[in-house]
Amino acid sequence: MKISKLKLVNFRNYENLKINFSDKLNIIYGENGSGKSNLVEAIYLLALTKSFRITNDKYLINKGKDSTTIEGKITKNNDESDYKVKISTEGKKVEIDNNKINKISEYITKIQVIVFYPSNTELINDSPSERRKLLNIEISQIFKEYLILLNNYNKILKQRNAYLKQLYLYGNASREYLDILTKKLVEYGKRIHKYRLEFLENLNQNITKVYKDIFESGELKIKYKSSYNRTERELLEIYRKYYSKEMAAGKTLIGIHHDDFEFILDGNNIKEWGSQGQLKNAILSFKISEVKLIKDILKEYPILILDDLFSELDERKIYNILNILDDNVQTFITTTELKSIPINVVEKSNIYHIQNGEIMEEKDE
Ligand SMILES: Nc1ncnc2c1ncn2[C@@H]1O[C@H](COP(=O)(O)OP(=O)(O)OP(=O)(O)O)[C@@H](O)[C@H]1O
Ligand SMILES: [Mg+2]
Repeated sequence: MKISKLKLVNFRNYENLKINFSDKLNIIYGENGSGKSNLVEAIYLLALTKSFRITNDKYLINKGKDSTTIEGKITKNNDESDYKVKISTEGKKVEIDNNKINKISEYITKIQVIVFYPSNTELINDSPSERRKLLNIEISQIFKEYLILLNNYNKILKQRNAYLKQLYLYGNASREYLDILTKKLVEYGKRIHKYRLEFLENLNQNITKVYKDIFESGELKIKYKSSYNRTERELLEIYRKYYSKEMAAGKTLIGIHHDDFEFILDGNNIKEWGSQGQLKNAILSFKISEVKLIKDILKEYPILILDDLFSELDERKIYNILNILDDNVQTFITTTELKSIPINVVEKSNIYHIQNGEIMEEKDE
């Protein structure tokens, strides 16, 4: 899928912007603080209704204004549609071809965007919840059912936690109800587990090669860690054994809400021994592998955003990355230095020079 036009009104430091994109490589360059990340953030937001950088939407609205709109023309399966996200102090509205969409799971499965940004590498050192969040976002944009399952699971989890507390306080409450909640939890949890397992297994088919193509050495693998690597029956058994422990804790101790995954480089957890460059390449390889995975599943490439790609990477790695990017994938790269990009790549790209929230010059291929 490709975004051909983007229109921003009062988004971050853009008051009014209309811009056309190449369906191949788009290079956005400018000084620090000029608005490069803001621009790609808008594309991501148009697809997923959220920023990849912040959780509080109010900072997305141009300072002093009370609403922002992000509109884009996107082609998918040879069909062109207008997408629109409006954020105001009252909340968020999304539209496709002027039709309001109420279900978020409906909207976010329409456009797939993969983004890589510098602080992404923190993901490796962050708590498991950040890695789960990434898994959830990525799988939600591929499968409509996933977000629904996740909401159901979380609902049951909340009920179950409340009931465990109740059981602890009033010991004579019904265990049968706990059994029912546990069974439901396992049912939803197993289905979520299956999605996550397949997603990570499929990524593993590509990630080793992508990593090696960039870094030229090292075997990278992802290891999924989940207590749900068992049959439903085994899980119910385990829960039964844990009932008293869970009651004392007042919460559910086992479940896919504790899932995690690790990046294993040459047999070791990259967190413990990887260099900055290796960490960056591990995450980048994850994202680039996802592009192929989405194409395999949905028969359509996602849009790829590589924000501030070149910082911390040596020339050779930059060359290798640009080499493996697929011309069929619409790609956005932001950089402060145009000269870090080989001339043959610049020549075949659309180049945008940004200054203080305005496009100063635009060069078509
Ligand atoms: N809500 C907002 N209203 C107005 N300006 C904003 C808003 N949010 C951020 N900005 C401005 O946007 C600029 C940051 O833009 P952005 O993050 O896109 O920079 P960048 O070009 O990616 O820089 P870098 O090279 O440092 O990554 C800052 O100057 C900031 O003041
Ligand atoms: Mg930036």
